[in-house]
Amino acid sequence: MRVAVVGLGHIGLPLAVQYASRGHEVVGCDVDAGRVEAVNRGASPHQDEPAVVERVPELVASGRLRATSDDAEGVHGADAVVVIVPVVVGDQRRVDFGQIDAATRDLARGLGPGTLVVYETTLPVGTTRHRFGPMLEQGSGLQLDRDLFLAFSPERVLVGRVLLDLQRYPKIVGGTGEEATRRAVAFYEAALEPGTEIRALASAEAAEMTKLAETTYRDVNIALANEFARYAARHGIDVTEVIDAANSQPYSHIHQPGVGVGGHCIPVYPHFLFGTDADLQLPPLARRINDGMGRWTVDLLRDRIGPLEGVPVLVLGIAYRADVREDAFSSAFRLRDELLAAGARVLGHDPYFDAGHLRSLGFEPWDPAEPAPVRAAVLQAGHDAYRALEPAAIPGLELLVDGRNALDRGRWEREGVGYVGIGR
Ligand SMILES: NC(=O)c1ccc[n+]([C@@H]2O[C@H](COP(=O)([O-])OP(=O)(O)OC[C@H]3O[C@@H](n4cnc5c(N)ncnc54)[C@H](O)[C@@H]3O)[C@@H](O)[C@H]2O)c1
Repeated sequence: MRVAVVGLGHIGLPLAVQYASRGHEVVGCDVDAGRVEAVNRGASPHQDEPAVVERVPELVASGRLRATSDDAEGVHGADAVVVIVPVVVGDQRRVDFGQIDAATRDLARGLGPGTLVVYETTLPVGTTRHRFGPMLEQGSGLQLDRDLFLAFSPERVLVGRVLLDLQRYPKIVGGTGEEATRRAVAFYEAALEPGTEIRALASAEAAEMTKLAETTYRDVNIALANEFARYAARHGIDVTEVIDAANSQPYSHIHQPGVGVGGHCIPVYPHFLFGTDADLQLPPLARRINDGMGRWTVDLLRDRIGPLEGVPVLVLGIAYRADVREDAFSSAFRLRDELLAAGARVLGHDPYFDAGHLRSLGFEPWDPAEPAPVRAAVLQAGHDAYRALEPAAIPGLELLVDGRNALDRGRWEREGVGYVGIGR
């Protein structure tokens, strides 16, 4: 097959490598000239997945993988086109289709009859059929379900282990018509590793909703864990012990509470669901509960050490989760705002970010080599490096709030530092 992958990002490039590794002729399309140039030189523009870095040179040398910055040229003659260009969401969670619309318009011009186009970017339900369907028809002059086939297949992998996840998780597909679904199933059977489960759903909308359902489930589950944590805190119970015990029953899958939920997916995709359907009650409530954990944590600090006006408070870990160099929608920002609103001086540290970046995010950088004294610290991202942190490394510390229930309570209490977890 000839396959075009539109968007050679952290997900798109590994997809291109996967398809080329199965022997297909793959063209990657990207508006970023640097990424295109790197691939054509035989080098991976991303370093986060060793197997991808390793395979790009040989696939390019063998002629099975090349890149272009012209989407229309790249899809010309393709049997299948996979689109994995981001949909951006602003601070107010407004969905911005600018990049994926532009990609759709550009690639439509290059489509020939009989092509299958599959969108893998997470989308609000109905987008594939009602937004991209007409754009593709208009741009190509082809008719959907007659000489152009359109499907959605959510990408459920994690950055850094895409090739592995592609083999492990069933590939969910749903077309805008029966023939599109059939063709999408046949495409993934030929493009993914033999034996990978390909699961056809009744429609593109069902496939779109699947990704929103799995991410919203996690957000709602975490909100419940946070409510349990707050309840446990009021009743002098350690919630981590309770969750562990409850989950020993095979139907209980309670997630972990924490100081907030961050990242590109979990705090964002529930908005794709309830933003277009006001009848949904739990997902927006869960969002409010999870977004409220920053305020709850600041109230907890105030209860323990008194008014926070002028008090230096250190936020440990600004990334949105442990051991990633990414801060998209990090709950560190809500915590920062709540601390500032309480009058605190907000210092920040993250082994993955330099002082300039921390400053640009509104944190006064805290330098472990010349540690400024602080009265309280909140573990916001449970980076591995913090497990070895010695209480003595933070001068003046009276209270540590373990926002991820990741640290050893005894270690801090033995050194005379108060320790409190989320629901612990
Ligand atoms: N990153 C994740 O962890 C993850 C996980 C699962 C699913 N996803 C889905 O994958 C999507 C892409 O994520 P990513 O991490 O690969 O993003 P990314 O930012 O790493 O890459 C996107 C690429 O698209 C390119 N692009 C933008 N406009 C284009 C156009 N008009 N034509 C061609 N290329 C264009 C960009 O230059 C960039 O290289 C996300 O929006 C999400 O829906 C991401």
